[in-house]
Amino acid sequence: MSAFRRTVTVRPDRLALILSPNHPTKNTKYTKSAKKIWLEWTRIHGMEAAHTMTTITKPRGTTEDDITAEVLRRFDATAQPRLRDIMQSLVRHLHAFVKDVELTEGEWMTAIQFLTKTGHMCDDKRQEFILLSDTLGVSMVVDLINHRKPEGATESTVFGPFHRDGAPELPAGGNIAPRDKKGVPTIVSGRVLTLDGGPIAGAWLDVWQADSSGLYDSQYAGTDELHLRGRFRSDEDGRFLIRTVRPVYYAIPTDGPVGRMLSATNRHPWRPAHIHFVVSAEGCEPVTTHIFDDADPYLESDTVFAVKNSLMCRFVRHDSRDEDAARFGVEPPFCTARFDFVLKPALR
Ligand SMILES: [Fe+2]
Repeated sequence: MSAFRRTVTVRPDRLALILSPNHPTKNTKYTKSAKKIWLEWTRIHGMEAAHTMTTITKPRGTTEDDITAEVLRRFDATAQPRLRDIMQSLVRHLHAFVKDVELTEGEWMTAIQFLTKTGHMCDDKRQEFILLSDTLGVSMVVDLINHRKPEGATESTVFGPFHRDGAPELPAGGNIAPRDKKGVPTIVSGRVLTLDGGPIAGAWLDVWQADSSGLYDSQYAGTDELHLRGRFRSDEDGRFLIRTVRPVYYAIPTDGPVGRMLSATNRHPWRPAHIHFVVSAEGCEPVTTHIFDDADPYLESDTVFAVKNSLMCRFVRHDSRDEDAARFGVEPPFCTARFDFVLKPALR
């Protein structure tokens, strides 16, 4: 029991003493709220029970640790054990953080305003809270905890804030970037496989990426049109073929509170070039991941910490009318990239 909480015996005529423990006198008057508390307590519990009630008897002189203990106690009765554990752990760590940095009231207000602005930046196209989670590394920690893969299975990475539902289903070889005329045409191919190397037919590949200016479709004002997004299916050999443009490194949106947090802490906003995938198939655990251009200068300092060695992919540039140009019917310069996705069986 904390130092400031005590169960005491109370008589109606003593209630005022409880509420004013430091200056009790015969003439102490009940306050309006004291009368209200007493009447309510009596109505609910009866007069006998009303003689015992729990109250705060030492509101002054409590310590920081007393408050932490009391807040933790208030969550003791949470019906769901998991929710209780999460809330109590949150309180423990949050209080420890505040005590560690000895947060000032001004800093507390700055934090409140920061979170308020983060919420105001969110709408159906912009998710500033995911961006905040990503830039604080929280998304990657959650990813690592939740997607421990067996050797050989494609690793996952952050989902990011730019996925949109409703991407068109395209045939093998379909182009997700028909309106991007500046980008280097790129053919991404590979297979979807089981852990033992067998083909997975009919797997879905949900693909999205930024254009050659480093922007996602949702970042262009005044249009809801989907671009650089598509859904493909693997064939009977597990093969897929996607036409797009070579991804480029890009800055995450810096016009909101997350951008201001990065600049205030001297961090850059860049992400290495990548293409997003969610690959799923019946009987398998879906994987949310990227493939990264292995020549990108920001691989070591991705602002959202999402790079994994196993997700490196070589984007080979072709400057002549070679065999691949003939096979894919493209004019140089263009790029080819190959990547196989390996799915692990779903848990039963
Ligand atoms: Fe991205």
